[in-house]
Amino acid sequence: MFTHFYRLALLLLSVTSVEAALENATCKKCHPVIFQEYQNSMHAKASIFKDPVHKAVWDKHPAKKKNNYKCAKCHTPSDHQLLSGKNKLKANAIQLNEPISCQACHTIQRVEEHTKANKNIHTSKEKYFFSANKTKKGKKVVFKEEKSLFGLITKTSGSPYHDIDYSNENFYNGKICLGCHDHKQNAKDFSVCDMQIKQGDSKETCISCHMPQTKGSLANQKQSTTHAFHGVNIHRKPVNLSRYVKLFLAKTDNGFVITIENEATHTLFPQPLRLSQLHVSIERAGKMIRLAPVSFRRIIGTENKPSVPWLATEVITDNTIKALEKRKIRYSTALHKGDEVVVAFGYYIANPKTAKKLGIDDHGSSKFITLTQKRFTIGQ
Ligand code: HEC
Ligand code: HEC
Ligand code: HEC
Ligand code: HEC
Ligand code: HEC
Repeated sequence: MFTHFYRLALLLLSVTSVEAALENATCKKCHPVIFQEYQNSMHAKASIFKDPVHKAVWDKHPAKKKNNYKCAKCHTPSDHQLLSGKNKLKANAIQLNEPISCQACHTIQRVEEHTKANKNIHTSKEKYFFSANKTKKGKKVVFKEEKSLFGLITKTSGSPYHDIDYSNENFYNGKICLGCHDHKQNAKDFSVCDMQIKQGDSKETCISCHMPQTKGSLANQKQSTTHAFHGVNIHRKPVNLSRYVKLFLAKTDNGFVITIENEATHTLFPQPLRLSQLHVSIERAGKMIRLAPVSFRRIIGTENKPSVPWLATEVITDNTIKALEKRKIRYSTALHKGDEVVVAFGYYIANPKTAKKLGIDDHGSSKFITLTQKRFTIGQ
């Protein structure tokens, strides 16, 4: 009796998911905390209908005239009709709610490396998800019902909806992110964006830094105190990532040196739109002395002039901070005993000049976001 009821409930669950046409609607029922976080992530907002910055660039792209949305592969892979060429780009429920759905990541079996851009290879098994868990590493959990007492008592194990495969190494070392995030070339075989990943001696991965364990259960039916954070988004003030970018100050004879230590295993803000800056001010005898900001950016273009990404053939200048780099910036302002030096490192989503040209300067995209800040009191 109970088993029948249970089967019926499961059946209903899968029927509603088809009707709603949203893959995440089922996950939401059992993984509400993760679902809620995901709603605020850039993965839930990667389409032109939810990300004004992506839209502004797409609006200027030559492929727009033909409505040939070539960005779908990474920005909206869950719009399967669009990817397979059956539909053109339009504001459907997937574009609006889950352009990169839960399954878009959890079914990635491996990442194929290519020069233009890498490619995600998905498992073809239904309701079969990869995940990482150190204590279960290597296991494959198949949903099981065990019947006893002539079928009156049903014991279940695993998730009552899907199988889980804990043996995919790419979910442990972070490689599952690199089908979309590693690099991207334009039609002129030039890398518009490249994370220039370097692991070095770092024990951290894309997942340990960007999806740290956070309070709240990973599923309704399972008592766990924490779950992996799913709200990746740098458009808001980043809270838990500042500790990976450290600031130091050393006084010299006629000035001082600020060191920015980047513990990330990739270039900081490598995207052509971004601008990161170091802001330094000195509080001295009740007065504030603001020093000129120092900018870090990668300017791309052609024939020695900056250009839009799809026309670029060369790097014009690049002083972005590389993976695991310690960058030293020298200042020639002498410090006095009792000075308070306030040092802040942060970024603009879109360089204010470009933001203006793209008409997105009123979206908050051209506001300075402080990633990390430190105050130094000068002795001696
Ligand atoms: C009927 C409830 C239910 C539904 C629906 C459901 N899950 Fe689960 N899921 C669970 C439970 C319970 C677990 C924990 C299983 C365990 O640890 O033994 C789980 C575990 C997982 C895990 C692995 C967690 C780990 O330990 O690393 C992933 C990944 C996952 N679910 C993804 C999804 C996705 C994606 C969807 C939607 C397509 C979904 N789930 C829908 C109940 C559900
Ligand atoms: C190979 C995968 C891939 C393809 C194809 C791709 N992108 Fe992206 N794009 C990304 C990733 C990953 C990010 C996030 C990178 C980051 O934040 O460092 C991104 C971010 C962006 C951003 C910045 C968005 C923001 O809110 O700051 C813009 C603009 C953008 N892409 C435009 C495009 C356009 C236009 C196309 C199609 C012509 C396109 N991309 C195709 C992977 C891709
Ligand atoms: C299917 C492609 C895809 C996969 C897989 C993917 N991402 Fe993304 N990610 C994107 C795109 C596209 C964006 C940019 C969306 C935008 O800004 O419009 C993005 C945005 C981000 C951002 C925020 C950047 C911002 O502009 O706010 C972070 C951080 C991030 N991803 C980390 C990860 C990590 C960590 C993984 C692996 C666990 C991962 N991503 C896997 C496509 C992907
Ligand atoms: C040691 C920690 C650490 C590791 C490891 C790490 N990151 Fe980051 N990542 C950062 C920090 C710090 C930033 C900049 C702060 C922020 O998000 O505002 C950042 C920024 C990003 C952004 C936003 C860049 C932009 O301009 O939009 C993306 C996307 C991203 N990381 C993806 C990845 C991927 C993919 C990997 C794995 C190859 C990875 N990260 C590994 C710490 C890390
Ligand atoms: C950008 C790729 C990506 C997307 C999108 C994504 N996940 Fe995950 N998810 C991961 C990765 C990677 C892990 C493994 C984290 C770890 O090692 O702790 C994970 C872990 C999990 C876990 C196990 C949590 C834990 O603490 O181990 C569950 C459950 C889960 N995801 C469910 C979901 C659901 C539900 C959605 C959609 C609302 C979703 N995921 C969307 C990449 C993703």
